[in-house]
Amino acid sequence: MANKTRRIGLSLGADICWPICYEALIKKLDLAITEGGNTNRFEVERVYIEPFDLMQPCSYDVVIDRLTHWYHTSREWIKKAILTDDLYVFNNPWSLQSMEKQTTYCAMMRLGLPIPDTWMIPPKSYTESADLKPTLTRYAKLFDLGEIGDRIGYPLFMKPYDGGAWVGVTAIKDRQSLLAAYDQSGTRVMHLQKGVIPNDAFVRCIGLGPQWRCVNYDPAAPLHDRYQMDVDFLSPADESHLANLTMVINAFFGWDFNSCESLRSNGTWHPIDFANACPDSQVTSLHFHFPWLIKSNIRWSIFCAATDRRMKTNLDWEKYFRIADKDKPFEEKLSGYVKLAEEHFDAERFYEFCDKHLAHLDEVANEFFRTDVVRDAIHQKVSALYPAHEIEEFTDLFWNRVQDSIRIEAGTDK
Ligand SMILES: Nc1ncnc2c1ncn2[C@@H]1O[C@H](COP(=O)(O)OP(=O)(O)O)[C@@H](O)[C@H]1O
Ligand SMILES: [Mg+2]
Repeated sequence: MANKTRRIGLSLGADICWPICYEALIKKLDLAITEGGNTNRFEVERVYIEPFDLMQPCSYDVVIDRLTHWYHTSREWIKKAILTDDLYVFNNPWSLQSMEKQTTYCAMMRLGLPIPDTWMIPPKSYTESADLKPTLTRYAKLFDLGEIGDRIGYPLFMKPYDGGAWVGVTAIKDRQSLLAAYDQSGTRVMHLQKGVIPNDAFVRCIGLGPQWRCVNYDPAAPLHDRYQMDVDFLSPADESHLANLTMVINAFFGWDFNSCESLRSNGTWHPIDFANACPDSQVTSLHFHFPWLIKSNIRWSIFCAATDRRMKTNLDWEKYFRIADKDKPFEEKLSGYVKLAEEHFDAERFYEFCDKHLAHLDEVANEFFRTDVVRDAIHQKVSALYPAHEIEEFTDLFWNRVQDSIRIEAGTDK
């Protein structure tokens, strides 16, 4: 039997708290996992940004990436490493680069998910370029924005087709506000989307590999209170439905780590924003849910590293479309998609692997999250974001929420 050292790289930006906890917990676990005839040990290292030879070997087995969506040198290094060295990365960088919200809406409409009615409209203004005038003069049709708004119905939302972080999103109550909002929208290409209103629930379901967590989300609350702390706020049927949607979306697009926002209206869950690959991982947003994220990240990355998981560079959409095109009720189709998604994530093998090799993780983690390492990581993150006079107060707040979470997890509370 051979000894193998599996190397996990963390490709980081402004992250402070989660890498400290991830690294320290992996160290504490001191894993030696026998799998595939090897005894696997694990090393974690931060990935540095530097010039690279395109044929330079990559020393990592797995990279957890937080930069691909905006820092292009790292994105290209990752793409190179997948192509030349079979690196496994959360998430597929080509998919992340090219799948905007627009693509995710169209694809999931095709699969039959109840995405609210959505239109794309050409931008209000343009950056000058040589071909602009002839193109628009010849081919841009005049359109009646008010009529489109009336057809969709109010309230509706105007939001960038490639949006994120709530930038440029406007809630619109009538024709007049639609015209005014469009006038203000500048060069961004916008969607108009029917409001899922009234709604009685807003859930952000975070998926990491085949793992998931449904979080009750309050978009109107200040950042530190948006992720609510209720557990068991959904019926088992609702929870499993949202988890299934999230896993299907993530498998379809090759995203290991993504979150899917859905609103419930008249008993139906409408996904409205699910192109969020690599979502917020900071303790200052996740707090109560932070231990879940660290543990899930450890499970999935250790599984991928120890089992030599192959990156799926080709997204095989045809098999989803074959199910979509059948004349069957949506629930039946969804079961078919879920089967494909479970295959994509090798879910059965993953859960067996966790039972066999990581059964002690919860216990070790529960002890770890009570230590000063965690408190200090929270303090560092809070110090980076909050004004001096709020640092101690918010460190205490997030620390206490983490403690509540592990008490509940350990079954010693509530
Ligand atoms: N169709 C909709 N119905 C109701 N609320 C919506 C809808 N679309 C967006 N919103 C509201 O606007 C917020 C931002 O829109 P979202 O699509 O999530 O954009 P972003 O990618 O910027 O997060 C949502 O969190 C939600 O509160
Ligand atoms: Mg959103």
